[in-house]
Formats: sequence, C-alpha cells, structure tokens
Amino acid sequence: MDLTHQEINLLRGQFPAFQRTIDGIPVAYFDGPAGTQVPQRVADAVSSYLLSSNANHAGLFATAIESDQMLDAARVGFSEFVGADDPAEIYFGQNMTSLTFAFSRAISQTWSSGDEIILTRMDHDANVTPWVLAARDRGIKVNYVDFDQETFRLDIDQLESYLNTNTRLVAVGCAANAAGTINPVTEICRLAKRYQAKVFLDAVHYAPHRLIDVKEFGCDFLVCSAYKFFGPHTGIFWGKRQLLEGLEAYKVRPATNRLPGKWMTGTQSHEGIVGSLEAVDYIADIGRDLRGDPTLGRRDSLIAAFSAIGRYEQKLTDIMLSGFKSIPGIQLFGIADPCRPDLRVATFSIICRGISTADFAKRLCDRGHFVWHGHYYALQFSEQLGLEPEGMVRIGMVHYNTVEEVNRLLDDIRSIASSVSESSG
Ligand SMILES: Cc1ncc(COP(=O)(O)O)c(C=O)c1O
Repeated sequence: MDLTHQEINLLRGQFPAFQRTIDGIPVAYFDGPAGTQVPQRVADAVSSYLLSSNANHAGLFATAIESDQMLDAARVGFSEFVGADDPAEIYFGQNMTSLTFAFSRAISQTWSSGDEIILTRMDHDANVTPWVLAARDRGIKVNYVDFDQETFRLDIDQLESYLNTNTRLVAVGCAANAAGTINPVTEICRLAKRYQAKVFLDAVHYAPHRLIDVKEFGCDFLVCSAYKFFGPHTGIFWGKRQLLEGLEAYKVRPATNRLPGKWMTGTQSHEGIVGSLEAVDYIADIGRDLRGDPTLGRRDSLIAAFSAIGRYEQKLTDIMLSGFKSIPGIQLFGIADPCRPDLRVATFSIICRGISTADFAKRLCDRGHFVWHGHYYALQFSEQLGLEPEGMVRIGMVHYNTVEEVNRLLDDIRSIASSVSESSG
C-alpha cells in the first residue's frame, strides 16, 4: 500500500496552492516545516463553521449547541490523532508556543529549590525558553543535552547522566525542525520514568510525517500545531487526565475547573479547531483510500496513512541525500545515511560554500522553490554549529512534494553551486 505517483497527483489536486506559478514555473513548496499548504476541504470546513455554526461555547440555542458538538468531535478526533483514549485529555490553544508558555507557568508551581529540568540543544526555542523562564522564576537548575555534530543525534548517555530524583521534567522534540532527526522519545520516556520525571514532547515537527502514539511513547504531555499538518493555525495539547486534573491552571474565576475547559483561556478559534479536525480527516482518508475501505476507523486509517507517507517521504529523502552528495560545495547539517529511515524526516538544512544563506535561499525562491533560511528558532542548534548569524537554508518535504520537484530543485542547487564556485575562482 504505497503512495504512487498517480495517488500523489490526486492528493495534490485537493490543494489550490499548487496552481501558483512563478514565471510559468509551478511553485514547489519546500516550506512545510514553517507551515504546510491546506486542502480545499479544510478551508471549506473553516468557512462552513463561520457561515453556518458560528457561536460561543455553552449557549442554549441551535448554533451554540452545534458548535459545542463540533468542538467535542474535534477532541475525539485529536485523541485518535495522538493515540489517546480520553477526549477530555485534549485541549486547544493559539499555537504550540502559547500553550507551552501557559502550561510551563502552571506546572512550574509544583517545582521548588533543588529541583532540576532537562532540555536539549536541538529543540525549537518554543520547547526551551518557556521552560528556562519557568526555571528562572522558581530558582531551579536547567541541564542541556547536547547533540553529536557528526551524527546529529542527541547524546542520550548525557541525558541519562542528568536524570536523578530531583528531575521534574524532560522537555524534548519528537523530531528536530532543523536537523530533521527523529529523537528516541520512547527510550527517553522510559529513562525519565525511572526517576518519576515528567516528559513533555514537542510533536510539532513530527506530526506531518509520522504517527503520534502517546501510549507507545510513554510521555505525560504532548503538543502539536495543525498548521504544520495541512490545517489552520491552532495548537493542540494532550496530557494525562490525572496530571491535568491535579495541576492548577492559570484561569479566570468563571471558567470551569473541569477538563478540558480549565486549560483553555478565553474563547478559542472554533473555526480553527473545526478546520484542524478536517486536516486530521484529510490524512485519515489517505489511509482509507489506500486500504480501499471507506469505513475504516479513524485511528486505523491514520496508521495506514502515516505508514505510506513515511515510505513515500523516504523515497524523496533518498533522492535528496544522494543529490546533495553529488554537488560540490553543499554541506548538510543532518543525518546523511539513507539506510536509516527511522532516524530522520524529510527536512534538510544545508549551506552552499561561497554564498550567504540569504542569497542562496533567494536564488532558489526566485526559481520557484519556496525554501526557508536562518535558524528557524532552532537557535541553539545553529549556535552550536557556529552558523549564526546566517544560519542555514532549510528544504522541508511532506507527502505532497514530488520526485520531479526534488530533481528540479537539485538541478537548480547544482547550477547555483557551480556558478558560485566559478565566480569565486
Ligand atoms: C519543532 C517546533 N516546535 C515548536 C514550534 C512552534 O510552534 P507554534 O508556531 O505553533 O508556536 C515550531 C514552529 O516552527 C516547531 O517547528
């Protein structure tokens, strides 16, 4: 059950963004890690909510009742998306960063002098600074786990050496948004549990590429953002019921003390939540189509979809990695071994000798390849590699990218790299 060229084209047909061209050349969206494109059905769900069911929470009239039913359905959908059993363990917010700031403020009230937390130098800053500020406010110690600059993997021995009975939290990304490395989160959770440390996972970069499974991971909290997996700008938080119930949320007095409402400050973007569920169902339908079973349950469909998406992205990864290897002057900051699909997603940070990252990115963007440049908030990653202030150029692929796009991109990288090397001597 692989995604064929024909199936990918059918899926691409659902995204109006692919109509866009630059000088007659179709745009290739390699900016997925900063935000993916959206299928028509997601935009339709958002607009239909706004035009037909728009209401605040808990009214006694038809639109409010409908709206609440849709929000309940979204919690069910997202509990299936993350592999949890209890929809009350899901709540929504503006984005991952805001959710993490709010949650760090609440959980840090349980920390006291002598406590410690563990962060990594590979993570996006949204999984670093909220914890650093909370630790500062509570006067507790922060330990940073390094990554190996050859293998681009976290130093798990170092992480283990930091763990002790004072460790309150380990905050780590499921996949790194600069290197593309998939971190061994199941192992990390297992190690943390030996000391009853809580584990907070940032699944933002992981979510469009692989199946989230909070039970398999063994984490306590997990957060992701729908705009990275074909949905609108909405953050999704999952936490173990007992822990979410036990912690005190920062909230206004009239707001409920029950889950999930106690964690949702103010009125949510209901249209965003409804659109986010539609994005989940867009992915689930990929699985249903591949299995030829329109009645397949959502979780099973997601399992089928992500398994095919993973294999397809691996094919693109192989072409990209061997392409980079063949172009003089290109340096990749991530796992280069094509034989370890379990270790990376299709996100590539590169530099080109002799040209600034801004110039390199601009030349690619002008040729219709929408790439990113800088540190993309993976600030410590870029600093550790000595790449600041320029950072890198990031090429991010999801399942809607094609072999043709990758080949065209590699041709253009080759021609930029060779023109730079000729002009520099
Ligand atoms: C790995 C990772 N974590 C966190 C974030 C922050 O997410 P949000 O924009 O939803 O706050 C991003 C955004 O790029 C990200 O890539």
